[in-house]
Amino acid sequence: MSSIFAKLLFSTLCMLFLLKTHSLVFADQRLAIVYPVIQNFKSMITSDPLGVTKSWIGSDICNYKGFYCDNPPDNNSAIALASIDFNGFHLSASTLDGFIDKLPDIALFHANSNNFIGTITSQITKLPYLYELDLSNNRFSGPFPIAVLGMNTLTFLDIRFNFFSGGVPQQIFTQNLEILFINNNLLTQKLPENLASSSIFLLTLANNKFVGPIPRNLPKALSSLTEVVLLNNELTGCLPHEIGYFQEAVVFDVGNNQLTGPLPFSLSCLEKVEVVNLAGNMFYGIVPEIVCAGC
Ligand SMILES: *[C@@H]1O[C@H](CO)[C@@H](O)[C@H](O)[C@H]1NC(C)=O
Repeated sequence: MSSIFAKLLFSTLCMLFLLKTHSLVFADQRLAIVYPVIQNFKSMITSDPLGVTKSWIGSDICNYKGFYCDNPPDNNSAIALASIDFNGFHLSASTLDGFIDKLPDIALFHANSNNFIGTITSQITKLPYLYELDLSNNRFSGPFPIAVLGMNTLTFLDIRFNFFSGGVPQQIFTQNLEILFINNNLLTQKLPENLASSSIFLLTLANNKFVGPIPRNLPKALSSLTEVVLLNNELTGCLPHEIGYFQEAVVFDVGNNQLTGPLPFSLSCLEKVEVVNLAGNMFYGIVPEIVCAGC
C-alpha cells in the first residue's frame, strides 16, 4: 500500500469516527460520560425477554426504559442519570461490575426480579449519592456485600431472595440504614449483641440461618421496628423479657426456630401487635392470659 493511500484511508477513517461521535448530542456532559457505560452493560446482557434494551439507543438516555434523570446534588443546572429502576425486567447478566459503580450520579438503583448473578463490586463504595440499593430476587451470591459498610448516604438496602452466605457485619445495623431486607439468603450469624441504637425501622431477617439467642438489649435498640420477622432461622434460648420493648411492632414472628422456655408476660406490652407467630418452637408452660388481654 502506498503511504499516500494509507494516509488517505487513515484520515477517512478518522472523519467517519468523528462523524459518528458527533452525531450523538447529549443534553449534558454527564450523560455523555455514562453513555459508553450503559452501552457496554447492554452488550453484556444475555437475556431480555421484555425487550427493554431496545430503547437503550441514542443520546436520549433520560428516556431509556428504566433510566431516570434529575439535577445532581452538586449542580442544580446539570442533568444527570439519577435513578435506575429495572424492577421486573427479567434481564440476565453475569455481573453488574463496571455498570453500577461507573454511574457517578446514581442515587437510586432498583433491580428487583432480574437474573443478575455474581458478587457486588467493592467499587460501589465510591458512589457519593447512592441512598437506595435494591438487588432483591436475583441470583447474587458470595459474602454479604461489605462495600455498603460505612456508606452513610445509604438508607435503603434490599438484598432479599438471593444466595448471599456467611456472616452479616454488625456495623450494618448501626450506620444510617432505615430499611434493611436480608431475608431469604444463606446468612449465618448471631443477632447483633451490644447494639445500643439503630435507625432501622424495617428489618427482615427471616429464612436465613441466624443462630444463637435473641440478645437482651436488641429489642430496645430496635424499638422502632414495625415488623419483627425472625421466622425460619436457627435461634435458640428463651424469649427475653425485653421483647416488650418492641412497642411499635405490628407483626411479631419468631416461628420455626429452636426457641424454648415459657412465654414472657411482656409479650402483652406489644400494644400494636396484630400478628403473633410463635409456632414451630419448643416453648412450654402456659400462654399467659395477659397476652390475649393486653397490657
Ligand atoms: C453545572 O452544570 C452545567 C451544565 O452541565 C455546566 O455548564 C456548568 O459548568 C456546571 N457548573 C459547575 C459549577 O460545575
